[in-house]
Amino acid sequence: MNFNIKNISLISGSLRKDSFNTKVLRNIEKEIIVQGFTTTFVDLNDFPIPFYNEDIELQAIPYNVLKLKNILQSSSGLIVSSPEYNGEISAVLKNMFDWLSRKSINGIPKKNFLDLKTIVVGVSIGKNGAKRSLERLQVLLGNLGVNKDILSYSLAKASNDIFDNRGNLLIDEEIIIIKDLIANYLSSADFLNDKLENLNKKVIQN
Ligand SMILES: Cc1cc2nc3c(=O)[nH]c(=O)nc-3n(C[C@H](O)[C@H](O)[C@H](O)COP(=O)(O)O)c2cc1C
Repeated sequence: MNFNIKNISLISGSLRKDSFNTKVLRNIEKEIIVQGFTTTFVDLNDFPIPFYNEDIELQAIPYNVLKLKNILQSSSGLIVSSPEYNGEISAVLKNMFDWLSRKSINGIPKKNFLDLKTIVVGVSIGKNGAKRSLERLQVLLGNLGVNKDILSYSLAKASNDIFDNRGNLLIDEEIIIIKDLIANYLSSADFLNDKLENLNKKVIQN
């Protein structure tokens, strides 16, 4: 897969079939497509990977980890949503990031996340809108090397009633917030240039 400057990867941290996080992320994806970008949606049910274990890594990096690395390296943007489980991000998401944080032999540290323009999303059924796990996600992704200006979106009190039967969000104010967020995200200064500049530097270094 080649780097596509107009491609945004979206990863849902919930495995649940009717996940509110996945539904909100799908609404965000639609908005990105409307605004002329392409997307790669990652449902982690389709990318099973073992718990991180250095012994497994030394034998062979799991194929799905390589696939996910490829997806991130070919995108200029990343949007991740996570449910809040006891104040933390989901274990499946943390496990994926642990695998992806590892550089291959002679690889460039943090290459997978280098300057990805990022939005963190948290949806919960409670009234705090997954704010604690959103903070964790923001710190984690910052440490991994994404573009430092991380945007966030939080939705509280989610329920089946706020979506139609196709998963479209029904709350007008939230639809407007998402539209504005994505317009701001896609137009943010330096978004694409930063990534291109760093890729060029890497080519020169190698
Ligand atoms: C083990 C567990 C822990 C949870 N902890 C929290 C929590 O700390 N804060 C919160 O707002 N909701 C919490 N919830 C409720 C989730 O917000 C709710 O299950 C939500 O629907 C999960 O996201 P999903 O619909 O995308 O799967 C918890 C749910 C589970 C199963």
